[in-house]
Amino acid sequence: MQGKVTKAIFPVAGLGTRFLPATKSIPKEILTLVDRPLIQYAIDEARAAGIEQFIFVTSRGKSALEDYFDAAPELEGALRRSGKTALLETLATTDVDSGAIAYVRQHRPLGLGHAVWCARRLVGDEPFAVVLTDDVIAGEPPCLQQMIEAHAETGGCMVAATEVPRETTSSYGVLDIAAEDGPLVRVRGMVEKPRPEVAPSTLAVIGRYILTPRVMAHLDRQRAGAGGEIQLTDAIAEEIRCGGAVHGFRFRGRRYDCGSKAGFLQATAAFGLAREDLRDEFSAFLGGVMGFARAAE
Ligand code: G1P
Repeated sequence: MQGKVTKAIFPVAGLGTRFLPATKSIPKEILTLVDRPLIQYAIDEARAAGIEQFIFVTSRGKSALEDYFDAAPELEGALRRSGKTALLETLATTDVDSGAIAYVRQHRPLGLGHAVWCARRLVGDEPFAVVLTDDVIAGEPPCLQQMIEAHAETGGCMVAATEVPRETTSSYGVLDIAAEDGPLVRVRGMVEKPRPEVAPSTLAVIGRYILTPRVMAHLDRQRAGAGGEIQLTDAIAEEIRCGGAVHGFRFRGRRYDCGSKAGFLQATAAFGLAREDLRDEFSAFLGGVMGFARAAE
C-alpha cells in the first residue's frame, strides 16, 4: 500500500479565451453546468477521493474563485431569515475549512507544467493529485477516487486515460503503451500533442493525475516543449526515462471537454438530463428541437 494522497493541485490560471467575451470578467472555472460552476465539480470529485488540501494555481483576474469558496454572511443571513433551508444546504456545498485551500499565483503563462511547479513548496515531499477543471468526468465512483484506489496498489505516477479518434491526438498527451492489465496500462513513454501520423497510440491523457514529488524535480529544469510551453507530460515522460513507474488508468465514466464550446454544450445537456427536477421538461424540449431540425433538413 502507498502513502495516502491528500493534496490536489488545480491549475486555474488560464485566460479562457475560447469563452470570450464571457471570460472577460469571470474566470472560466466559474462557468456553470446547470447550476454548479466547473470548479465545484472538480472540488466535489477531489473531496470524494479523500483530498484534504486544495491548492489553486491562479493568475490575475481570478479573485472570483477565492470569493466563491469564502463565507457569504449577508446571503446566508438573508436565506436563514426567510427560512430557505434547502438553499442554505446548497450553499453549504461551497464550504471549505479555513486553511484547506491555498492559492499560489502563476505570474506568467508558461504552460501546465509550470503551473503545477508553482505549487511545489505547498506539495512538499508527498504524492499529489492534479485536477484539470476543463475535463468534467461523469463517473461512479468519481474518476479521481477510482484512480486513488488503483494507485494504492501500483504507487508511482498515474494518469487518467481514454481512447480518442486518431485525428485528434494533437489535442492531447498520448501514451506509448508497454503492457495492459485490465484498466491499468503500463506506460513506456508519453508525448504531448503529437500529430496523428506519429502518435504512439490513440490512448490520451485526460486531466486527472497522481504524481510523485520527483515529477516536481523534473519540472525544476523548466524546459519548454510542445507549443513552446513547459509541459507536464514532458516531466512525466522524464520520470519514465529515470526508471519511475507510470500507469495510465482507463477510468469508467464519460469525459466532457468543457474547454471547448461543443463539449461544454454536451455536458450541459447530459447533466441537465441527469437531473430529476429538470429531466421531463428538458427532454421534451430537446425532443422538440430535434424534430424541428429533422423537419428542416
Ligand atoms: C492538457 C495536457 C494534455 C492532456 C489534456 C487533457 O492539455 O497538456 O496532455 O491530454 O490537458 O485535457 P490542454 O487541454 O491544456 O491543451
